[in-house]
Amino acid sequence: MSKKGLLFNCGKSKVMHFGEDENTLVMSFLDSVSSYTYNKHERIVGTGVVRCDISSFIFEKLEEKGIKTHFIKNLNNGKMLVKKIDMFKLEVIPRNYAAGSMVRNYPVIHGTRFDPPILKIDMKYSNDPMLNDDYIVALGIATKKELERIKELAHEVNNFLSSFFLEKELLLVDFKFEVGRNEKGEIIVGDEISPDGMRVWDRNTYVSMDKDVFRFGKGDLVEAYKELQKRLMV
Ligand code: CDP
Repeated sequence: MSKKGLLFNCGKSKVMHFGEDENTLVMSFLDSVSSYTYNKHERIVGTGVVRCDISSFIFEKLEEKGIKTHFIKNLNNGKMLVKKIDMFKLEVIPRNYAAGSMVRNYPVIHGTRFDPPILKIDMKYSNDPMLNDDYIVALGIATKKELERIKELAHEVNNFLSSFFLEKELLLVDFKFEVGRNEKGEIIVGDEISPDGMRVWDRNTYVSMDKDVFRFGKGDLVEAYKELQKRLMV
């Protein structure tokens, strides 16, 4: 029986449809914005499309650089065609500057640069508890070898994106991405990489162009995302 057209939820902000064949999925980005920490959830029209467009652009850049992702193509209108991969229950979070939970939970001044960058890995479970190597292996989430590759990949993605953003006079403060195994067992980038899951500041004014605009009611979120899109694409 064909599974085409069946749906399942992927977090709060995306829905997955089965694609034309069993190796592909269509990821639909919803106009749904939420912050677990600040207990906020809103529908903000236009965020789905711009997240999909920015994420598609970033995936294209990563692919050009030889970093494999699940991206196949942007179908526009907030839909992305992707390869079906076996996702790890992990959220991989490189941090280049101190912000958010880092400042709330540790004695560090907002905006402090981390050189080398910090890598935090959370579990996609319950309220996303932070993991360490032993937890990841003991819980059977990834093998030691896979974990080494995930960390290497995280640094490759972070190095590339940080430099790319800096060329556009943007500071990539921190971001979250997800990883999965493709049919060859290779570890590749999945899900989305967009301002919904990152902090980006203008290099000179430190103005945010990410979900902090929503978290702290600092203006029009769609405008902020579109400004980021414009800056990245010139
Ligand atoms: O946002 P905060 O610093 O409090 O939490 P974090 O888990 O330390 O997140 C660091 C970065 O990853 C931020 O840019 C978050 O937006 C992003 N993140 C995300 O998009 N989704 C998650 N489930 C966790 C983190």
